[in-house]
Amino acid sequence: MDFIKLFEPITINKTRVKNRIVMPAMGLFMTDDYSFNDRYRSFYRERGRGGVGLMVVGPLAVDRVGSAPFMPGLFEDQFVEPLKAFVDEMHQTNDATIGTQLFHMGRYAYSAFSGMTSIGPSAIPSRLTKETPRAMTKEDIETVKEAFASAARRAKEAGFDYIEIIACTGYLISQFLSPVTNRRTDEYGGPIENRMRFGIEVIGAVRKAVGSDTAVGIRIAGNDFMDGGHTNAESAAFAAAAQKAGVDAVNVTGGWHETNVPQLTTNVPAGVFVYLARGIKEKVTVPVFASNRLGDPVLAEKVLRDGSADRICGGGPRIADPLLPDKVRQGHFDEIISCIACNQGCFDSIFYGRAVHCVLNPTVGREDEVRIKPAEKKKKVLVAGGGPGGMEFALTAAARGHNVTLFEKDEKLGGQVNLAKVPPGKHELQKIIDSMKSRMEHFGVKIKAGAALSEKTVREEKPDYLVVATGARPIDIRVPGIDKPHVVSAWDVLSDKIADIGKRVVIVGGSATGCETAHYLASMGVPDPEAFTFLMYHNAEDPLHAMELLHKPGRQVVVIDMVDRMADNVSKTSRWSLMKSLKLMGVKLMPGTKLLEITDTAVMVETGKGSQAIPADTVIIAVGARSVNDLAASAEKDGISVITIGDAKAPRKITDAIREGFEEALTI
Ligand SMILES: Cc1cc2nc3c(=O)[nH]c(=O)nc-3n(C[C@H](O)[C@H](O)[C@H](O)COP(=O)(O)O)c2cc1C
Repeated sequence: MDFIKLFEPITINKTRVKNRIVMPAMGLFMTDDYSFNDRYRSFYRERGRGGVGLMVVGPLAVDRVGSAPFMPGLFEDQFVEPLKAFVDEMHQTNDATIGTQLFHMGRYAYSAFSGMTSIGPSAIPSRLTKETPRAMTKEDIETVKEAFASAARRAKEAGFDYIEIIACTGYLISQFLSPVTNRRTDEYGGPIENRMRFGIEVIGAVRKAVGSDTAVGIRIAGNDFMDGGHTNAESAAFAAAAQKAGVDAVNVTGGWHETNVPQLTTNVPAGVFVYLARGIKEKVTVPVFASNRLGDPVLAEKVLRDGSADRICGGGPRIADPLLPDKVRQGHFDEIISCIACNQGCFDSIFYGRAVHCVLNPTVGREDEVRIKPAEKKKKVLVAGGGPGGMEFALTAAARGHNVTLFEKDEKLGGQVNLAKVPPGKHELQKIIDSMKSRMEHFGVKIKAGAALSEKTVREEKPDYLVVATGARPIDIRVPGIDKPHVVSAWDVLSDKIADIGKRVVIVGGSATGCETAHYLASMGVPDPEAFTFLMYHNAEDPLHAMELLHKPGRQVVVIDMVDRMADNVSKTSRWSLMKSLKLMGVKLMPGTKLLEITDTAVMVETGKGSQAIPADTVIIAVGARSVNDLAASAEKDGISVITIGDAKAPRKITDAIREGFEEALTI
């Protein structure tokens, strides 16, 4: 496909932007004192030179009560100079349009970080912070409006080309907009015109502060996805009012942090929220941005062509690959580091109060510290194992100029990613394999799939380095009945080796693998999204009945574990959604439950309430893995330098394997 629309220039107010690709604002947590420091500079520098049209730096805090020291501030004049120096540098070194986002969290601010009770339109507790804000007085309202206006003036002084006001995701302005959080009885509460008043006044104050020539945008939720909150219709009404009040662009994202509809995770179908931008676009004439899960350039081009939006935001995709826009423009698809929306390095990190990094790109957040430099001396390297760790080592070493051959015993590359991608909503993980394979090929790695690296080959080849990335295998547990024919491993189930799985299943082990295997089994046979859409499109089924079919499992699945908290090793921004799916699919979770024995028809367990038998036709063991690294010892005996990485060293997450592969490859 030709990316004609994606690379078409567009004008916002008087600002010409070279293409339609937007890197939206993202909290990166790379400071702890409101400063815009070197870490931010390196992060944005890399992305500014990557071909993006509009790069929205920040968010930047407009005051202390609505923020945290983990984000750069813009609430004092002293913050202008470092930002101005950076924006000037960007303007001199690349032709990206540099914007910023003015940020106020309202009741989403944590008192522990701001040192103050948060404020909001009304004193409605936040599910996010578990705190109750103080209802804003009229004086507070004036103070916050003034804070937005002053921050906008400073942003203009710093040279930003575009200033965006955040009015989405459940932050302050959206709190005023929504009846869920706005119970005021004055002119800022009640009917929608009143609830819009605060946002409209902020826009007016910002416009007055920066004058008519500066591009000002607003970021809104296309639908709050909150019970009783704004739908697309009310959001569109606000967008129209915002345009009248002086905004030059409307950036449409999805729902609030408190919603129980997933927004950014891998199970969110690509492009699913485009209809929200389309709904807004029908009510405004200024450019509209679409957002969320639009990292695929082909999809982005289609969205622009069908007229649903004028510009495309990509958050995760721009973190994972800073150079993505240029790679697409130049047709270098084999070099792209594909975001899989795992959220583990980015969104999860900020919810744990840590700086953003990326599972698939180990340079993120330390762009200036780690550079892939050519090796001083070309070495011969054999890599045993084509999982993420082995592939990352191979491609990084080859990028440095080493002579690398990778052996994988299976026909397919990817190791355990081939299991992790099987449960519902996780197919996107295949991109890890595709992206790493194409990058290995690009850098000249010789790939031998379906060929286990033997001790004999290592001895014959005499490499300078042997990299042992042979992964792990399931742990064997000892319990009476474990050898019965109806007892199988989760790995075998996920790799489709088990054809007959009974109607009553007990899964032993409630970590990620156990819970996701439960989701997989419970969802087997329900209509897939395409089938569901077909039924709805043709009015073939009553929508309520079709919904029932979606959540009607074909078997009874029980997960047992001794731990108190199931799926504890699933990251924060994905766990709640997995738990929700298990509940919808009727999976029974039994934490605090010890396996005693497996009989022909049941699993005998002990719970806090005594022992019981859980009927089971199939028992699936998902209790963890242990390293496979036999090759290391024999090669070491032969005097070969051995580097053991990933699960072969100790079973952990993909992110550990990739980071280790990358870092070790920089050392040779
Ligand atoms: C780590 C992280 C922090 C974010 N912080 C903000 C923010 O402060 N303001 C905002 O408007 N959106 C924020 N977002 C949302 C992104 O701007 C963007 O809408 C989202 O990532 C788009 O989805 P995508 O990652 O699938 O492209 C954040 C996203 C991530 C991943």
